[in-house]
Amino acid sequence: MKRLAVFASGNGSNFQSITDAIKSGTLEAEICLVVCDREDAYVLERAKLENINLFSFSPKNYANKAEFETEILEKLRQHDVDFIILAGYMRLIGPTLLQKYSQRIVNIHPSLLPSFPGKDAIGQAFDAGVKETGVTVHYVDDGMDTGPIIAQKTVPILDGDTKDILQKRIQETEHDMYPSVLQQLCQKKLT
Ligand code: GRF
Repeated sequence: MKRLAVFASGNGSNFQSITDAIKSGTLEAEICLVVCDREDAYVLERAKLENINLFSFSPKNYANKAEFETEILEKLRQHDVDFIILAGYMRLIGPTLLQKYSQRIVNIHPSLLPSFPGKDAIGQAFDAGVKETGVTVHYVDDGMDTGPIIAQKTVPILDGDTKDILQKRIQETEHDMYPSVLQQLCQKKLT
């Protein structure tokens, strides 16, 4: 069974959907570590409730990204992690982690990439007035939401939608999509 580390900075609803899929048996994997870079993130409560090992840190306590990523790497080694799963982790991954986990870091982004990369992708799509947006799961490289795409799902923007309604529709899609894409990924042989 593949061993996952989930990286998150906020609410953690995607962490929850992955955890729930594991519990229900639709995702055959194990979350062995949650990594969080914010002391006030709700995902910390979720991880505690689920009894999952936690590494939370404040970037301001480190000289630079290489320093905290080196510490993260040591935790990943201790927990024998196969894949890093980004789920609302609001930081670019640096070379320290990218080199060791090449092709083993996955992200979910709330747009049809390459459209609307970066922050507030839902707001960007809503303000642009497009008729559809969506969700992308992709491998992570050194760019901002630029790595090779694994899967995409379209979400319509309907007349009368507010940004909140759209956000809810996108999140429902994410919660369904991420565990099932991860299940496919976890069945592959690691090279
Ligand atoms: C999701 O919309 C994800 O696509 C983006 O950050 C958000 C995280 O939400 N990368 P949550 O913390 O999982 O609720």
